[in-house]
Amino acid sequence: MQDGTTAEERRGLLKNILYGALALAALPLPWLGWKFLKPQVQRRKLAPLDIGAAADFSAGSYRRISYGDRPVGILRSAAGELRAFDLRCTHANCIVNWNRESEFVCPCHGGRFDAEGRVNLLPPEKPLLRLDIAEREGRVILRDEEYSTAADQI
Ligand code: FES
Repeated sequence: MQDGTTAEERRGLLKNILYGALALAALPLPWLGWKFLKPQVQRRKLAPLDIGAAADFSAGSYRRISYGDRPVGILRSAAGELRAFDLRCTHANCIVNWNRESEFVCPCHGGRFDAEGRVNLLPPEKPLLRLDIAEREGRVILRDEEYSTAADQI
C-alpha cells in the first residue's frame, strides 16, 4: 500500500481501535458486578391480620403485637383514631416503648416520638413507619401497607 502510512502506523491505529472497542465493552462491567453481588432479598407481603374486635380497643388503649417479624404498636387515640406503628426506631432499629404519656421512647439513645410517630427528640431523624389499620365489620384489620407520618420531617 502506498498511501503514505507505514505498516507500523497502521498497526498502531488498529491497536488503538481494538483497545477502544475493549474499553467500550468493559463499560457496563461495574453495573453488572453490582447487579450480581447485590442481595436479591425481597420481602414478601404479609396477609392482612385480624387483631381483634374493635370494641376491645378503647380510647387511649395501646397494644403491642408481632406482625411477621415486625413489632407493631396499636394505639387508639382519645378521639378514637386507630394507629399502627412499626416499633423499630428509625435511628438504629431498637424497639421503642409506649410510655403511656403520649410518647414512644427508644431505650437505646433516648429518641422520642409523639403519638403520631413524629420525632420529638433526636437522634432519630425520621418518623416511625405507620402501617395501614382499619375497622371492618367490627374487627380491627392490620394490613402490610406502610407509609410515613411526616415525610418532610428533618
Ligand atoms: S436506636 Fe433509637 S434513638 Fe438510637
